[in-house]
Amino acid sequence: MANLNVNGVVRQIDAAPDTPLLWVLREHLKLTGTKYGCGVAACGACTVHLDGEPIRACVTPLSHAEGKRVTTIEGLPGGENNRLVQAWIAEQAPQCGYCQSGQIMQAAGLLAKTPKPSREQIVEHMDGNICRCGSYAQIVAAVERAASGR
Ligand code: FES
Ligand code: FES
Repeated sequence: MANLNVNGVVRQIDAAPDTPLLWVLREHLKLTGTKYGCGVAACGACTVHLDGEPIRACVTPLSHAEGKRVTTIEGLPGGENNRLVQAWIAEQAPQCGYCQSGQIMQAAGLLAKTPKPSREQIVEHMDGNICRCGSYAQIVAAVERAASGR
């Protein structure tokens, strides 16, 4: 049994220590906003925050997340009013939408540390998050919009 702090609430998880955090979130806690894409840290669909840092939940064992703060897309401050979510809507970033919660969590990690990133910094930071629909230009525009406070 593990105690896991997810979105500010401590939850008891009955799972083996090596269970990937992604499956704890999706299967045990039914937080299905975090997606499975590749399972090998190569796409970013499963991005959540661990103590504020974007990480790949598919390769993070439950034991590594214990004692840390896990934040998922469901726990993003402000919910639908979060500036990134609003910018995503304004720029019409999602196409199929599958990759987008991971994209937003990756972007949130950038703005937490670098509130006014350059375009180059945005592109570099978002580089590991794959979008099969190819909405990269809209994603960069959305991060720029959120950073500008428009
Ligand atoms: S599912 Fe985790 S990086 Fe692709
Ligand atoms: S919006 Fe479809 S994979 Fe990114």
